[in-house]
Amino acid sequence: MKLAVLASGRGSNLRAIADAIDWGACAASIVAVVSDKDDAGALAFAAERGVASAIVRPKAYESRALWDAALAEAVASFSPDLVVLAGFMRIIGGAMLGRFPHRIVNVHPALLPSFPGAHGARDAIAKGVRISGCTVHLVDAGVDTGPILAQAAVSVWPSDDEASLQARIQREEHRLLPAVIDAIAKGAIVLGERPQLASTLAFDERALNSPALISAPLSTR
Ligand code: GRF
Repeated sequence: MKLAVLASGRGSNLRAIADAIDWGACAASIVAVVSDKDDAGALAFAAERGVASAIVRPKAYESRALWDAALAEAVASFSPDLVVLAGFMRIIGGAMLGRFPHRIVNVHPALLPSFPGAHGARDAIAKGVRISGCTVHLVDAGVDTGPILAQAAVSVWPSDDEASLQARIQREEHRLLPAVIDAIAKGAIVLGERPQLASTLAFDERALNSPALISAPLSTR
């Protein structure tokens, strides 16, 4: 299964996907990395690995719709089977959704539907929740509202700040996102308006969603 990975940031999720592919744990190949930012670490990683890349800069377009159409063109030029948003910090519009119906997945640093938006870890800390985590979901027209494919939970410790919680969540993202891509590639997760687990395949959903609920050491309570 050919992946186009869209990323705005440092690209640790992109790296996790590439590593899982190298280890034979993710039946996919990355055909392109596409970014909205010239200085995205994900682009440097693509160059390092010899993966094709493209930048579609929002400022170069008069409207969000025109940028979205250009993004759809750029991504489609790589003919991916699946589009993966791995830290892509922009809202996907109609052109992208129309070009890749039920074929765009996103990883979000919270247990949706709680804490959608750009600051999942910060918002979880502010609210004082004791369990957070990450969600891999299909992208629809809303912000982090699409059908949920898999989730992993992590404990929120009293000593956590945004950075420490984000780091713990990211460890789970790096496991969960490649696992979901692998499940899609193997037909174990069937995408569509209502994504389903394929009943014909022996697929242990518990392995995908296994929580990493680890108590805080006593010294940090
Ligand atoms: C991840 O935490 C992801 O959940 C969010 O953006 C972050 C990207 O991190 N959407 P990285 O660039 O993959 O390191």
